[in-house]
Formats: sequence, C-alpha cells, structure tokens
Amino acid sequence: MKKILLCFGTRPEAIKMAAICMALKQRQLPYKLCVTAQHRHMLDQVLEFFDLIPDFDLNCMQPNQSLSQLSSRILSEMDKIFEKERFDLVLVHGDTTTSTMVALAAFHCGIQVAHVEAGLRTYNKRSPFPEELNRQITGRISDFHFAPTEKAKQNLLNEYVQASQILVTGNTVIDALFYTLNKIDNGYTNGFIENLAKKIDFSKKIVLVTGHRRESFGAGFENVCEAILEISKKHDVEIVYPVHLNPNVQNVVYEKLSNIKNIHLIAPLDYPSFVWLMRKSNLIISDSGGIQEEAPSLNIPVLVTRETTERDEGIQARCSILVGTDPNRIIEETRKVLNNSDAVNCMNNPYGDGFAAINIVEFIQNNSI
Ligand code: UD1
Ligand code: UDP
Repeated sequence: MKKILLCFGTRPEAIKMAAICMALKQRQLPYKLCVTAQHRHMLDQVLEFFDLIPDFDLNCMQPNQSLSQLSSRILSEMDKIFEKERFDLVLVHGDTTTSTMVALAAFHCGIQVAHVEAGLRTYNKRSPFPEELNRQITGRISDFHFAPTEKAKQNLLNEYVQASQILVTGNTVIDALFYTLNKIDNGYTNGFIENLAKKIDFSKKIVLVTGHRRESFGAGFENVCEAILEISKKHDVEIVYPVHLNPNVQNVVYEKLSNIKNIHLIAPLDYPSFVWLMRKSNLIISDSGGIQEEAPSLNIPVLVTRETTERDEGIQARCSILVGTDPNRIIEETRKVLNNSDAVNCMNNPYGDGFAAINIVEFIQNNSI
C-alpha cells in the first residue's frame, strides 16, 4: 500500500474529508492528515466533532488574509512537509486556495494527486471567485478525479480527462450528514444546541441564513441584508444567521442586521448544531456550496444567493432556486416558499446517497494507488 496524505484547510473541506478519514479508518488503511488551517476556529470545530488529530498543522490563517499571501504560505510550508516525509498520493478537496496550492506543491515534488469533488464547473472564472479557477487548476494537476455526479464527470471528459481516471462517487458531504443525523437521533447534544433550543421560538417558521462568497462582498452582501431585513418585517418568522468569521461578512451583517427582535445573529455553529438547526428550518437562504448539497436530503428548500452555481443538479431537480442578490427577487421567492410548501419540491438528492467515501477508498484499494 502506498503512503497517503489527506490535506485540507477550511470548514467545508474538513467536513467532506472527515467522511474519507472515517472510511479509511474503518478499512484499517493507514494515512496521514495535514491541515493548512486556512481557517482556524471553523476548522477546529470540525476536527473536534469528527475526532480528527492532524499529523501536520501548518497554522496558516491570518486575519483578513489575501489570497496571494495565503497561497505563498501554503506552497512553502507544503514543500517542507514533502521534504520531511515521502508520500505517494495526496488527496485534496474541492476548490479552495488550500486544495489548489497543495496540489501544486505535490505536483512540484512528483507526487500523485487525487481530487475529491472534482469536475464542478460554471466556466465563468469570476464566479465563484476564485473557486472556479481553483477547481480547474486542481483538475489539470490531478491524476485521479472523484466526481460527485455524472454531470461533473461529463465536464471532465469534455476537458479530455481519461475516463479511467474518473470515478463518480456521490458527494462525501452526504456521508458526513447521515453520520451526524444518526448521532443526533441517538441522543447527541451540546451547548450550542441547548442554547438554540432556549433562544429561538421554534413554534414559528425558521429561516436559516448563511453567506460568505467573495464575489458578493460589498453591494451583493448589502442587498442580501436588505432582503433579510424586509423578510423579518413582512413575515412572522424567526431568522437565524450564523455569521461567517470573514471580516468582510461580519462588518456588513452586524452593521445592517443587529438588534432586530426576530433576527438572531450568532457565531458559526459547529457541524452537529448546524445540522440540528437545518433540520428544524423551513427555508435556507445561502450562497454555500455544501448547504446546497445537504438540504435536499432534509427536504429543505434553498434560495441560492449567487449569480451562478456549479451545483446545477439541485436547481434542475427543483431542490433549490438560484435567486442572485437582487433583494426584490429574494423577498418574492421567500414569500412563495413560506406561503406554499410545494414551491420547491425535492424528491431525491442528486448529490449522493451516503456511500461516497467508501467508493473513493475502494477505488484507491482496487487500483493500488
Ligand atoms: C474560504 C474559501 C471558500 C470556501 C469558504 C468556506 C478560498 C479562496 N476561499 O473562504 O472557497 O467556500 O472558505 O467557508 O479558499 N476567519 C477567521 N476564522 C476562521 C475562518 C476565517 O477568523 O476560522 C477569517 C479570517 O480573518 C480570514 C478570513 O476569515 O483571513 C477569510 O478566510 P479565507 O479562508 O481566506 O476565506 P473564506 O471567505 O473563509
Ligand atoms: N456549516 C456549519 N456551521 C455553520 C454554517 C455551515 O457547520 O455555522 C456547515 C454546513 O452544514 C456545510 C458547510 O459548513 O456542510 C458549508 O460551509 P461553507 O458554507 O462555509 O462553505 P462552502 O460549502 O460554501 O464552501
């Protein structure tokens, strides 16, 4: 068996790669874990819940970090890891600065790269920014591509990736979600959940909000906040908004939405509390990639506050609606969903069935890579 390194740096990568760590452990396959800590607190929340202890922690995050400075820190730190210990295969995830820089550093050292959640595309390099280009670059570097859907596989085939290098696996976030739901159903609770249960009036409809995309900083975020404010006035709902720690998000959201009775601005939740809250929600308004994938399994509609999405399967299946950041559109679609439970109707989750991580691990075993 070859020496495998898993590497990630942000909250969503950690959630999605945790499923692979659990599958490797289940099969008793050795691996090492490296975190860049592109995120610190939001990453540590995930490591703790899934009981993951990194072998290497690059501790890269700096307040309000620039993409280029972060990239250079990751590249130079990964070089040191690869000098210290020889790996045959590095698994990276998705479209973050971490995944692309780790893939590039591995390529420079002649190490094979496997890309988890490969092949998602908008073909608009400014949206999502910088993720679309990150994903394309990581795809060019990678030797193996774990595509969550057939559509993602087709994108890779169109880019002349060999079919034998691609496996359609489903998205590992569904594995993580099912694992977490199972824990909650078996009595798991924590301080966040207990606080939410006290603070939020769950007899009312719950609107859950998140947002963090760079292409929406400035006017886009202000517009979404304007819409949320209007929704809080028009509807007898509880709005719960765990605010992302990026200062470009925090500054606008706390300035525009503080001190409103039915808007609860809270710190980012750890994964089990967020899953607990998603399940209690009637509507989610979000620009998150992971939430677009998770919500169909809970049959919760998502209004996607982005101009483009690389997760078109959910839109086509009527699990989510792409609304952009125009406040009028967000307000109108919210009205429709709150007044009509059939406005969005997702029968099957197009993103996976909970077996993605095992599919990935079996591919690695069977291809002795
Ligand atoms: C990053 C990813 C994005 C992903 C998102 C998930 C890139 C370019 N962006 O965006 O693809 O969808 O994570 O959330 O890779 N911060 C903290 N503590 C934390 C996390 C963030 O204080 O635990 C603050 C810091 O000031 C940090 C800033 O947020 O500098 C931005 O973090 P960064 O990872 O660069 O960008 P995100 O917007 O989080
Ligand atoms: N999430 C979480 N706590 C929160 C908000 C989101 O654990 O307060 C989870 C969510 O369930 C999903 C992931 O974080 O699995 C999405 O992360 P994010 O929106 O930051 O990134 P993206 O998916 O857009 O890359």
